[in-house]
Amino acid sequence: MGIKIIGTGSYTPERVLTNLDLEKMVDTNDEWISTRTGIKERRIADENTATSDLASRACIEALKSANITAEDIDLIIVGTATADKAFPSTACLTQAKIGAKNAVCFDLSAACSGFLYSLEVAESMLAAKPQYKRALVIGAEKFSSLVNWKDRNTCILFGDGAGVVVIEKTDGETSSILASHMGSNGDHEKLLQVPGGGTALPITKENFDEGHQYVTMEGQEVFKKAVTAMVTSCKKVMEESGITADQIKWLIPHQANYRILKAVASRLKISEDNVFMNLDKFGNTSAASIGLAVDEMNKTGSVSEGDYVLLTAFGGGLTWGATLLRW
Ligand code: COA
Repeated sequence: MGIKIIGTGSYTPERVLTNLDLEKMVDTNDEWISTRTGIKERRIADENTATSDLASRACIEALKSANITAEDIDLIIVGTATADKAFPSTACLTQAKIGAKNAVCFDLSAACSGFLYSLEVAESMLAAKPQYKRALVIGAEKFSSLVNWKDRNTCILFGDGAGVVVIEKTDGETSSILASHMGSNGDHEKLLQVPGGGTALPITKENFDEGHQYVTMEGQEVFKKAVTAMVTSCKKVMEESGITADQIKWLIPHQANYRILKAVASRLKISEDNVFMNLDKFGNTSAASIGLAVDEMNKTGSVSEGDYVLLTAFGGGLTWGATLLRW
């Protein structure tokens, strides 16, 4: 049995928020944001758009690219930190919007690593049970809903979007997914979190006024830990599969900050020319970023059959991982 990626899709909202726009909102400037992060602009969803709206638009594109219908889907997993509601899951809401009435649906919480974790779970479920043949693996975020637009430390970083891959179980021996490694460490919850809005710190008027509904981050610590964790996971999957740095066509890291991406590539001895970056256009879209990049790589014809593509992510939790694909 093998697992193949048979389609990709993505969606980003139309509204573009540039660094120049941010200059009018907080004490920052394009030069600071560009040199520290590599981000030039990001997409922001309007107030009537929920995460499942972003996800379903991306799914419709992915289904078209796979040349199948929504009813052919047995499993929908949405990696997200910005669910539409506490419940039903964003996956169920997406199911209803696209008409995937035969699918089992649930969300997965792993912050910015949500897409890779979802791919890991979907692959395992397809491998384990005959009833699961095709899955929509989705990373979708309306991350702008967690951002304090008065906090220049964080508001410059994030954007909204959704990325999807369709995976299918095949009879063949070959698999698109060659190896994967995931990690978590709950000891560092405070480095990157949204403290309020859950059961630990419900949103009362007082907590709301304190801003506990917004993302908080210790930027420099996150930076260091992100580089170390992604490099560790990438090395593990490269070792396990016997693939060397010079064989990697694309390294697609979670699009957090171009300095993080460069540091990861450099430690893996992968040339910067082989690092796929689109964070200049979309910023950090959390769980959506890898799916967005994979779809862009696919749609622009930047990848050929048989190419090795190394995905790696890091996020709140802490969570991290790497997955090696043969396209
Ligand atoms: N515009 C202008 N100045 C800013 C600013 C902004 N948007 N944000 C912070 N600053 C200021 C700080 O107040 C500080 O000023 P001070 O020296 O007077 O105190 C100075 O710039 C340096 O801040 P610092 O936080 O040390 O900057 P940095 O080089 O660490 O860059 C990040 C900040 C957030 C870009 C960087 O730490 C980072 O990218 N970390 C990883 C974040 C990430 O990717 N998170 C998601 C992971 S999934």
